[in-house]
Amino acid sequence: MVTGGGHGIGRASVRRLASEGASVTVADIDLAAAQLVAEEIRKAGGAAVAVGCDVRDRSSVETAVARAVDEFGRLDVLVNTAGGGGRHPEFADTGDEVWEDLIDLNLVGVVRCIRAALPHLRAAPGGGSVVTIGSVNGMATFGGEPYSAAKSGLQILTANLAAKYGPQGVRFNLVAPGTIRTRVWDDQADSLARLARLYPLGRVGEPDDVAAAVAFLASEDAAWITGVVLPVDGGILSVGPARIQS
Ligand SMILES: NC(=O)c1ccc[n+]([C@@H]2O[C@H](COP(=O)([O-])OP(=O)(O)OC[C@H]3O[C@@H](n4cnc5c(N)ncnc54)[C@H](O)[C@@H]3O)[C@@H](O)[C@H]2O)c1
Repeated sequence: MVTGGGHGIGRASVRRLASEGASVTVADIDLAAAQLVAEEIRKAGGAAVAVGCDVRDRSSVETAVARAVDEFGRLDVLVNTAGGGGRHPEFADTGDEVWEDLIDLNLVGVVRCIRAALPHLRAAPGGGSVVTIGSVNGMATFGGEPYSAAKSGLQILTANLAAKYGPQGVRFNLVAPGTIRTRVWDDQADSLARLARLYPLGRVGEPDDVAAAVAFLASEDAAWITGVVLPVDGGILSVGPARIQS
């Protein structure tokens, strides 16, 4: 099951997992987008089902997980990509509501999905795997405090759950992307071009760059990897956030 699978990094992850033979539940608040992706997978001979899901709503998440299990008989991989930042004022002028919304979407939303999926992940015959999309914003000072704090929270959540549920056969890993060309950058072509020049690898990332890491961490190739944060960041953490902020 991939949350946020209707667009961007989630959609690329769905396509990649399906191409490797996974049966995928595409869970998204944008049901129409999820349906398009699922249909594309089925047309290519794969197995996919779309389900409407708002990760901010516990019962919606539980219904989506139940649907995935009904459809495919089990759930062994959960990929959490639903999330996002949005625009808000400077820290000093940002009120509680923005904080609550961004923490709810980016941190508690992931908690809800993991909690609902956990019984199935523990029962998965080959072990369960959770791959969550964090951000380099959770690892260094790129600004956007509410979003960054939520993404940083995902790191310690991932480590704690890795320690707690490893003995029960469930792995938890975090992928931390740098700037990825998705629709969230659609109206910021100039910023994207400027950012591309700052990345050691000379470009911003594509959704497929992240999907490759997701597929690896979800797979048996990563059977002895849990609790890690894997930056997929074109080297930006190596040069440091000052380069981006200046
Ligand atoms: N694009 C980047 O530069 C970048 C960088 C680092 C991390 N990320 C993270 O990657 C993830 C995906 O972002 P993206 O750039 O692909 O954005 P996107 O907008 O293209 O995709 C996000 C998907 O999540 C869905 N979604 C939004 N709110 C939801 C909710 N409440 N419940 C269920 N689904 C919901 C959207 O409908 C959409 O399909 C996010 O967690 C984001 O924070 C993105």
